[in-house]
Amino acid sequence: MKIFRICPSILNAGRDNLPSEISRIAQDSDFLHLDVMDNIFVPNFTFSFSESEEIIGKSPLPVDAHLMIANPDEMAVAYAKAGSASVTFHLEAAQAPFEIISGLKACGARVGVGIKPATPFEAVEELLPLIDMLLVMTVEPGFGGQSFMSDMLPKVSKARTFIDLLPDPKPWLEVDGGISLNTISQAATAGADTFVAGSAVFNAPIPGEMIKSLRVCLAESIKEA
Ligand code: DX5
Ligand code: ZN
Repeated sequence: MKIFRICPSILNAGRDNLPSEISRIAQDSDFLHLDVMDNIFVPNFTFSFSESEEIIGKSPLPVDAHLMIANPDEMAVAYAKAGSASVTFHLEAAQAPFEIISGLKACGARVGVGIKPATPFEAVEELLPLIDMLLVMTVEPGFGGQSFMSDMLPKVSKARTFIDLLPDPKPWLEVDGGISLNTISQAATAGADTFVAGSAVFNAPIPGEMIKSLRVCLAESIKEA
């Protein structure tokens, strides 16, 4: 039985009352995806470390922290210590990825490594046996509500082929950006098993119902495969 995970991003949720926005998705989601942007690695700013700490501390769901920051070597472990279940840093920003990985593991967090659209799969290949999740960005990181880049699908397929050859427990394969009812099946068919969805979920009248519909699409995509 294939396991799929849905991780709503609160980037497009109402900022004024995050706890109530989070409560709208808590029952139906696997993780809360926390997009941390520093206005250096990406041209946008979301949450400071102390704001992140507060969200992580109060979240009823395990937190998948996505660090779009220029200094993961200094900061990634702090997000693990703050209680994130999973911390994903970007390969493009990391000076010493092996050290970040061991630091995160020592804190007991799941370790994710993200790659931007222009970064080829081969750049991250040697890290895969050491990590818990590969994040293939399906938009240019920085903003919610962008269109899914279907030209990233071959990269997802390549990653799936490689991951399937690794011993268990295999790393999860996450996609992030533009995931909706129109795109989730393509990403699943290419081999993704973990899906971040921001605007599709929070722009829906009932976010929890949208997550259920996304799961129906996933179930159908395996039937068709
Ligand atoms: C983009 C972020 C994503 C984004 C997802 O830089 O990493 O998590 O918020 O939002 P949608 O689903 O609207 O593309
Ligand atoms: Zn993200």
